[in-house]
Amino acid sequence: MDVEREKRVAAEAAAELVESGMTVGLGTGSTVAYLLPALAKRSLDIVCAATSPRTEHAARELGLRIEDVTSIDRFDITIDGADQIAPDGWLVKGGGGAHSREKIVAGAADRFVVIADSSKPVDALHAPVPLELLSFGLRATLRLVEPAALRDVPHSPDGGVIADYQGAVEDPAALAIQLSTTPGVVAHGLFPPQMVAMAFIGRGESAERIDFGG
Ligand code: 5RP
Repeated sequence: MDVEREKRVAAEAAAELVESGMTVGLGTGSTVAYLLPALAKRSLDIVCAATSPRTEHAARELGLRIEDVTSIDRFDITIDGADQIAPDGWLVKGGGGAHSREKIVAGAADRFVVIADSSKPVDALHAPVPLELLSFGLRATLRLVEPAALRDVPHSPDGGVIADYQGAVEDPAALAIQLSTTPGVVAHGLFPPQMVAMAFIGRGESAERIDFGG
């Protein structure tokens, strides 16, 4: 399948950036699922931290060394997927509802590298924008972030409620500020270009590298 091949080549290209001695943040999702064996195959001396139980389990099964993220204050590199990638480097993440943890691990990385198939670049970001919300005051928070809908999925591993902002995304920076400053919003899925070092986009048999300078 073309999409699966594109995910794999993007993940393999990013895995080549990892060197022995590095601390590596591992994202979540079907593209990251290709990253884990690509990393394991290289038999590097690395320490990893995972952004979800699913990634942690898969990484451990492959023999990667996983540490508790609470003991790590910076990462040499974090590699993760994305749902949308705008030309200027803004991202939408959180299709798997893991964006709060993913944002912490991306923000703590010297280099945050995005891996994606060719369906992910978009001309302009659009809804849905994933949200993680506190249970406390949920109805009030939902009213403040209207239009938004609860997602029919389990709570996050941190107890947060997963929802999606469904409105326009004309100005991602303004929307990011609005969502970040809304009481009850734990995290939103808008990731700014300043956070993103580069992206590898699978295109057919090879991966296109785009540098964003973050
Ligand atoms: C999970 C994410 C994923 O990285 C994003 O949804 C992309 O997933 P996939 O690689 O399966 O397309 O943000 O919260």
